[in-house]
Amino acid sequence: MFDVEKIRAEFPILSREVYGKRLTYLDSGATAQKPRCVVEKMAELLLNENANIHRGVHRLSEEMTVRYEEAREVVRTFIGAAHREEVIFTSGATMSLNLVASSWCEKNLKEGDNIVVSHIEHHSNIVPWQLAAERKGAELRVIPVVEDGSLELDKLDSLIDEHTKVVAITQASNTLGTKPDLARIIAKAHSVGAVAVVDGCQGVVHGGVDVAALDCDFYAFSGHKLYGPTGIGVLYGKRELLDKMPPYMGGGDMVDKVSFEKTTYAPLPLKFEAGTSNFIGAIGLAEAIKFLQSLPADEIEQHEKALLDYATEQLLQIEGLRIYGTTADKAPIISFNVEGCDHYDIGMILDKMGVAVRTGHHCAEPTMARFGTNGVVRASFALYNNKEDIDTLVKAVKRAVSMLK
Ligand code: ALA
Repeated sequence: MFDVEKIRAEFPILSREVYGKRLTYLDSGATAQKPRCVVEKMAELLLNENANIHRGVHRLSEEMTVRYEEAREVVRTFIGAAHREEVIFTSGATMSLNLVASSWCEKNLKEGDNIVVSHIEHHSNIVPWQLAAERKGAELRVIPVVEDGSLELDKLDSLIDEHTKVVAITQASNTLGTKPDLARIIAKAHSVGAVAVVDGCQGVVHGGVDVAALDCDFYAFSGHKLYGPTGIGVLYGKRELLDKMPPYMGGGDMVDKVSFEKTTYAPLPLKFEAGTSNFIGAIGLAEAIKFLQSLPADEIEQHEKALLDYATEQLLQIEGLRIYGTTADKAPIISFNVEGCDHYDIGMILDKMGVAVRTGHHCAEPTMARFGTNGVVRASFALYNNKEDIDTLVKAVKRAVSMLK
């Protein structure tokens, strides 16, 4: 049996209080809490082992370099990448997506081409493509979303054509929880020779990924939503694509030889890791992944699904409450509004009761516009949430509604 209380004990923050109330943390979609092992590993490295990687001949530098490359290997096996060169450490998913939009599009996108995204993307998987399209005179096309939050995939044939160069899609929407049919979208992208880019920020946390099986060309995620530290993320890219791409940023560690006449670049993955990497963060992320791998993945999934189902059922009993995103196989995320109440006001009142949720547009303004709202309250669940969290949320929403109506 999945022992959620045992897991909660590994996350010290969950036993603190807010305004004298038990903390009910339901904002893991924004950032997940960290297990003790991640923080302890990072503290140990910073206090006793710190040295820059890839640069020193001294013992500490060599040891840290080995740990950093071991962290890359942990990530590689976790996501199912074939080669270590395919795992690039970045500052987060936003940088990963910008890297592809900038570097791959620089060489491969031209006037008259198009890039296809979906209507339910986070701004990080819209704006970089918009910028690339503007630079190159390409068009941005959008896969529409229907009422339950699923994508209109029968439109793929008209949207994706021989001028499509990129199809960029989320693995799980950060607002609606929708998990698009990636296999179908990727196959369609490949049928016209386009690359498929997947934003795995929310998806990798709930169910993981196997990039080889998925056959995506690029995959991006952040460490901090995966129980790891902030400031570290990953870009997976197929080696043959990354090899042909120009560097994204110039600086130390990404070069082979530098002269004023000509600079040559380091081989993958370092070509894309300019400057001092967040090596402590990378090792912290590997620790978070090892923590996750020590738990039964199927039981985590069942636990999160049970929380989602219970919360959905309980919240829907509140009069005037509408949930956005109702597909059957959604990620454990509930976005909602209550008729006659402002989302921000609900969030503020919940906070006073110790309940942490996110309110607003969630960096997904096109999604909000599509559903006719400027914001929603979002409760997002993680492996450490329990039934008491849901009961507290529901009670707090009822209280907030009674105060606001
Ligand atoms: N992208 C994060 C969220 O959905 C911050 O809240």
